This record gives sequence, structure tokens and C-alpha cells, in this order.
Amino acid sequence: MSRSAHPAGPRHADVLPEGHYSAPPTDLNHLDPKVWARTVHRDEDGAAVVGGIPVTRLAAEFGTPAYFLDEADFRARCRAWSDAFGQDADVFYAGKAFLSRAVVRWLHEEGLNLDVCSGGELATALSAGMPAERIAFHGNNKSPQEIQRAVEVGVGRIVLDSFQEIARVAHIAQSLGKRQRVQIRVTVGVEAHTHEFIATAHEDQKFGIALAGGQAAEAVRRALKLDGLELIGIHSHIGSQIFDMAGFEVSARRVVQLLAEVRDEHGVELPEIDLGGGLGIAYTSEDDPREPHHIAKALNEIVTRECEAAGLSTPRISVEPGRAIVGPTAFTLYEVGTVKHLEGLRTYVSVDGGMSDNIRTALYDAEYSVALVSRTSEAEPMLSRVVGKHCESGDIVVKDAFLPADLAPGDLIAVPATGAYCRSMASNYNHALRPPVVAVRDGEARVIVRRETEEDLLRLDVG
Ligand code: LLP
Repeated sequence: MSRSAHPAGPRHADVLPEGHYSAPPTDLNHLDPKVWARTVHRDEDGAAVVGGIPVTRLAAEFGTPAYFLDEADFRARCRAWSDAFGQDADVFYAGKAFLSRAVVRWLHEEGLNLDVCSGGELATALSAGMPAERIAFHGNNKSPQEIQRAVEVGVGRIVLDSFQEIARVAHIAQSLGKRQRVQIRVTVGVEAHTHEFIATAHEDQKFGIALAGGQAAEAVRRALKLDGLELIGIHSHIGSQIFDMAGFEVSARRVVQLLAEVRDEHGVELPEIDLGGGLGIAYTSEDDPREPHHIAKALNEIVTRECEAAGLSTPRISVEPGRAIVGPTAFTLYEVGTVKHLEGLRTYVSVDGGMSDNIRTALYDAEYSVALVSRTSEAEPMLSRVVGKHCESGDIVVKDAFLPADLAPGDLIAVPATGAYCRSMASNYNHALRPPVVAVRDGEARVIVRRETEEDLLRLDVG
């Protein structure tokens, strides 16, 4: 988040009171491949194209706001993750980032597993044919009904998050005459360098069971005693949108230490460890994410080294990337409705969506990029704030970004890297109708989640 102050020159920039923004790009028409889905480029008319289709055509056919997802990119990222980790590891896509039945089918076809964290995600996965044994079930407060369904259908693992849940899952499994494969989620005490609300491995938070004070060792002791449970390993997820591998290395080291303690105390070598998700993506050109092969190499090396030192055989590793797979593959397309120049302050560009389709800026102070995509422009850069249409001044989509000064109502602008945690966290605030997700591939566009209608809204309102 280190941004340099912008030099004087472009419109409004010299009068903005403060702000953290980089210098205007030398070419506002350039779509940086770092932040845009892989097939995105401009055609000879200047419109951005995804999956072979210009956004102007997509907007005419599907309306705005809408999320457009580059299916080829999604599949390529799945393959990159599974190739990087290879046969001896498992990649679980974290469905909370974005889940739909089409996504489940792509995951299945590309050989990935799936992490779900609610009954709704489990139902979506099962309804699209994901084999239950390839599903991991997460959550810090799964309901008895959710646990029962997960055990009944035979999910590959339930990740236990509390002492109560250890007993609860064991009881339900036993009453169904089953032995459920489980992992225990531990908090390793790492302070991940990310927003407080998306960091999960420091001790003062709701997830997992702390390694500190012997809590996790006690959880293992209890789980090993219960007939309804087959303890297959230890799980750690340290947070989200993380670039630095150091946190993962500490986490891996501490999880392996626990495996060694378990071996010493119980004579059991737990066969698996899960190091969670959380790998960062580029939201702006200044972000530098790691490639999956780099991540796989770093994690494999540290686990192998620590296991050798502890005299353990290397466990099977699994990881749970969500954002790193789906995040970069989609953008949100908006139509500009108003452009308001507040002299001496800033320019507000209002679009036809907002915090109901992207809450991340308001919630985490997240940074995004934005570009004019229906045409190119040679106008000077204009420092802008892209805002939504909601009745709330915090309804900001992109806080500080440069758009061409000739931007006008009717122009289409797009915010890249909105594939993760945008549609999945979308709301009906102000009775907004949640936008569709349209998958685009090889010149064909297909709605995979349709736009909500007023009938959808009114159906739940029983009067
Ligand atoms: N595994 C577990 C156990 C998790 O809790 C999460 C994310 C993941 C994997 C996937 O993390 P990813 O690779 O997608 O970073 N709404 C926030 C992110 C919350 C993440 C919650 N857990 C955001 O918009 O940044």
C-alpha cells in the first residue's frame, strides 16, 4: 500500500487535499495484463475485448453492472495450481471467493478439490456433481444440521474448529455409524501482514484452536480418542491477500512441530497438513503476486526440511487458494451515469452499481484499478473517485484512480480483479438487484449466475 504522492500537472491533482495514489499512467488506454484477465485486450476500435467479445457487445446483450469472467483464464489458473503442487499434494479451491454450479463443474474437470464453509456452498457443490470425497467442510460454527449432511454425504474431510465441534462431529458421525475424516484447524500465532479483518492466525480471533498453551495438543488428544473421528491432519490458514511467504513458512514450521509432538506423545504420524489459502493477487499495477510454482516450491521445501529435522515422513500437503484462482479472472463492467467536478476537491464518477456489488473498498479499504473500456481516449488524466448509486457516502468502488478527462455519461468503465469476494459478498442494499456473472470463452458468452429481478426480491417479501 505504499503509494507515492502524485506530481503536479493533471487536472485536479494539484488541488486534492491529500491521498495516496501513484503518478498517472503514461498510457491510460493500456490494460495492464497484471490486473486484467488473460484474454483481455483492446480491439482496433479501442473497445476492451474478453474471451473474443468486445465489452460494448457484452453490455448491450447482458446490461450493466455485470461481472464478466474469463473461463479460459480460470481453467488455466486451476491447472497452474495443480501442476505446481503435483501428484503428491491436493489443491482445494476456496468456494467462498466465488461459487456457482458452472465453477464447480470447471473445478471437477480440471481435477481440483473444493473447500466449502456452509450448507449452502455444500449444496451448490453437490448439485453440480462434485464428488463428496473431494470436498472439505470448514467453518467456526457449523450447525448440527450442516454437520449431519456433510457426514451423511461423505465429505472427504471436516475441519474442526473448536473443542465443542470435536465432540459434536464425533457424536453425529457415530450416531450415523460412520467414522469421519477430520483435520484440526490450529492458530499458529502468526501476524499476517494484511487487513485486520482478513488475518486469521494471530491468537486473538475466532478461528481455530491455539497452538499456544497446549490447546491444539489437547484437541488432538481428544480427537484421537473418539471412535467417530479419523484424525488425518492439521490445518492452518493465516489470512488473506498475503504476498510475503514468511508467514506461511512460520505456519508450516509450527504445524510440523505439532506433528512431531503428536508422534512423540501418541506414536501416531498424522498423514496430512493443510496450509490454507490467502495468496495475494494484483489489484493494481503495483502489486506483485507470487506464481503458484514459486509458492509450491517454497512450501514443499520448508515442510520437507522441517520433517527431516524432526524425523517425520513428509505429510501430504494441501492448499486452499480462492482469490488467487478466481480473483484475476473477472472484471465488473459499469456504465457511467454522472461525472461531478467539485472544484478544488475532486471528481466523482458515479456508476450504476456500487457497494452492493463490491463491498471490499468500503469494508477493507481495498484498492482497485479502473479503466475506460468502451473506447480509447487521448484526453488528459483526471484523478477520479468512482462511486456507486447507493444512499451512503462510503459507497466507493475505486477511491483514487485516473480516468480520461473527457469521460462522459454512457461510457463503460471496468474494474478488474473482481472475481473474488465481490459477487459472493454482494448484497441487496437499497434493494439493488445483484448483477449477473457471465462466463466468456472463445467468442461465446454464457450467463452462469443470472441478474436478480424485482420478482426475486419480492418473492422473499411475504407481505
Ligand atoms: N481457506 C480458509 C480456511 C479460509 O478461511 C479462506 C478464506 C481461504 C482458504 C481462501 O482464502 P483466499 O485464498 O481466497 O485468500 N472477504 C475477504 C476475504 C476473506 C477470506 C476468508 N477466508 C476479502 O474480500 O478480502
